[in-house]
Amino acid sequence: MTLEIDQIPTNILKFIKKQNIDSLRPSQLKSIKKGLFKNNKNQIISTPTGSGKTLVAELAMLDTIFNKNKKVIYIVPLKALASEKYKDFITSYGEDLKVRIAIGEVQNEKYNYDYDILIVTAEKLDSLIRHDKTFIENLGLLIVDEIHLLNDEKRGPTLEILLTIFKTRYKKVRIIGLSATIGNAKELSAWLNADLIEDDWRPVELQHYVYLGDKLLRYK
Ligand SMILES: Nc1ncnc2c1ncn2[C@@H]1O[C@H](COP(=O)(O)OP(=O)(O)OP(=O)(O)O)[C@@H](O)[C@H]1O
Ligand SMILES: [Mg+2]
Repeated sequence: MTLEIDQIPTNILKFIKKQNIDSLRPSQLKSIKKGLFKNNKNQIISTPTGSGKTLVAELAMLDTIFNKNKKVIYIVPLKALASEKYKDFITSYGEDLKVRIAIGEVQNEKYNYDYDILIVTAEKLDSLIRHDKTFIENLGLLIVDEIHLLNDEKRGPTLEILLTIFKTRYKKVRIIGLSATIGNAKELSAWLNADLIEDDWRPVELQHYVYLGDKLLRYK
């Protein structure tokens, strides 16, 4: 067992080991050092694609559920991604946790709110909190995957309103935002009163090319 992984609370560690993870990536370690398990501060994880942002979210989720006895909502930008995340989380946690998904179009659809982890789109969560507040009782953590979509012309406003509602009305709910492509990470972190975790480690080297005539030339 490496020292790094030692920093994960033991009751969570077994889930992580099941995923064959035996050491942490730089951004994951930075997030823990900033207080992932020690404080309840919001965090923005702004690191390259494939660098392991989901694990930071999962660590916070497991800590919220097992050590704080609270629930988690995970926002994804698209329904297709919601189904994908749902499958992933069922595989990793389905035996031990109540993992649910809410993405349907129907306004008054009754959901099973007896969840530990609820996966939603921003649009769905926006409609849910307007119709029935009971399902966010005892909510401890809101994960916002691809949080840079705040900037998206079409989908951004819903997410922005949603986060504003949480910022003002549900202040105790911790927000963790994940993105590989935030242009204004500092500004966003300040707006969310979040610690910013930045790192440029990536699983594969980034190569820069230009397309010239019919040739692709590498320049960096
Ligand atoms: N500490 C680790 N050790 C080994 N593998 C890891 C570790 N952390 C994450 N991974 C693996 O790395 C892969 C990519 O991670 P992940 O999907 O979280 O990337 P991401 O940062 O969310 O990227 P994107 O911005 O593209 O969504 C996953 O298969 C994950 O299991
Ligand atoms: Mg991701």
